[in-house]
Amino acid sequence: MYLCPVCKTSLTQQTSSWMCTNNHSFDIAKKGYVNLLLSHKMKSKSPGDSKMMIQARQAFLSAGHYQPLAEAIVKLAGEYGVERMLDAGCGEGYYTNELARSGISMAGLDISKEGISAACKRDKRIAWCIGSVNDLPYEQGYFDGVLSVFCRVDNGEFHRVLRHDGVVIFIGPGDNHLPKLRAGLYEYVRPYEKTKQTEYLPSFEPLADRSIQFPIALESSEQVHNLLCMTPHYWSTNPAQQQRLLSQGGLHDTADIQIRVYRRLAT
Ligand SMILES: C[S@@+](CC[C@H](N)C(=O)[O-])C[C@H]1O[C@@H](n2cnc3c(N)ncnc32)[C@H](O)[C@@H]1O
Ligand SMILES: [Zn+2]
Repeated sequence: MYLCPVCKTSLTQQTSSWMCTNNHSFDIAKKGYVNLLLSHKMKSKSPGDSKMMIQARQAFLSAGHYQPLAEAIVKLAGEYGVERMLDAGCGEGYYTNELARSGISMAGLDISKEGISAACKRDKRIAWCIGSVNDLPYEQGYFDGVLSVFCRVDNGEFHRVLRHDGVVIFIGPGDNHLPKLRAGLYEYVRPYEKTKQTEYLPSFEPLADRSIQFPIALESSEQVHNLLCMTPHYWSTNPAQQQRLLSQGGLHDTADIQIRVYRRLAT
């Protein structure tokens, strides 16, 4: 399944490592993951989400606040007959785990070591790997589904690792996602920019474009902080804005989430 990130030949599993025919070797960490991200390709020393962000996301997702989304993804993967799936940018593995529980053979990849370390605790049967969405360490045509939840996509790499008729399930914020969280942070709340499907994945044909809405009831400022840390608003606001939101205590808001499905085109 894995490709050597150095020479792009297949990796074979040894007792405690993955090795290619050119003797490039990658240790399997005690926690169970393999790190296939080459250090010279890392733009920072610890790329991706930090420990604090991963812990916040884990606390929030494990409390079930996004369970309707997880259920929708599992249902959709079933509808399209996905059997072997990559969660590309899996974070701490909440959705990866839910899909594995539904019987799909799962691989989870994220650039964050903290994310993958936390994800390993969820299910040891899932193939957890540190790597980049922009340089996927998997063989051509290995998956019949790729999931992308609130993460960047890579048209060429998704196309390469998918089977000829494979699908991408893409999840992003809808137009009216978390309006009260945004109103608590900004004086003027801008609408989310609509992204054209083709801008994302030109080598794929759009099959479905749906959205789901569900309420989110957060009863403490700690829970609101966890949610804030999961969103890009955490980076685009200053401490005073964040304090204004958090001083409200809890938050009763609405999630509006876009769910798109694409099928791989032949070219
Ligand atoms: C908003 S989080 C979403 C995580 C997860 N999909 C979820 O919804 O819980 C975005 C994730 O993308 C990861 N990430 C950012 N750039 C990446 C890259 N180039 N390759 C793989 N993962 C990346 C971050 O580390 C982070 O875990
Ligand atoms: Zn190699």
